[in-house]
Amino acid sequence: MIYLHPIFQLLAICFGLYALFLGINRIKSLHFQKPVPFLWKRHVLVGSIALIAMLLGTLGGSIILFLLWGKVFVAGTHAKVGLVILFLLIVGLISGYILHFHKKKRKFLPLLHAANNLLILLLALWQIKTGWNLLAIF
Ligand code: HEM
Ligand code: HEM
Repeated sequence: MIYLHPIFQLLAICFGLYALFLGINRIKSLHFQKPVPFLWKRHVLVGSIALIAMLLGTLGGSIILFLLWGKVFVAGTHAKVGLVILFLLIVGLISGYILHFHKKKRKFLPLLHAANNLLILLLALWQIKTGWNLLAIF
């Protein structure tokens, strides 16, 4: 059961990296006037899978810890960064759906969305390191 959350989160991070890879094309065309195609629908699908899976995985990590130890928020830095990621995930999903369902020419919101989601991925990579140390305790 201990490995469920790490495996789930690692998969979510892979989907996130692919969404970022697709999003970089949008940055090129929107901000640097480079006419590269942006796979909009695929980005929305892959990005949604990444952020929703990470959201469920984060809640799942707390639930599993509660089942094992009867407590949550005991994992130090891993738990604190997890809480920050939880907030950023909500911002990433809301901004993404606004961009998707209310299409118009914008510059600021896409940039905010990109910075927020890049931060999620950087923090998630850090979670691999602290999570690895946590696994060693079990
Ligand atoms: C890990 C997840 C995600 C990452 C790393 C990511 C990254 C990006 C990046 C880098 C851009 C380009 C922004 C710009 O040109 O300034 C972008 C655009 C966009 N993203 Fe995401 N995104 C993610 C998730 C999502 C989700 C979940 C949705 C929708 C539900 C979404 C919808 C969009 C849309 C519609 C655009 C185009 C906006 C426009 O050009 O007006 N993204 N994303
Ligand atoms: C997006 C990345 C991740 C987030 C947001 C996240 C978040 C969390 C949270 C909130 C908890 C509960 C902590 C507590 O209540 O004290 C937790 C537990 C845990 N995390 Fe993560 N985590 C992530 C990735 C990882 C990875 C990659 C690993 C392993 C390499 C890992 C290993 C663990 C372990 C061993 C636990 C204890 C409970 C369990 O195994 O399910 N986490 N995580």
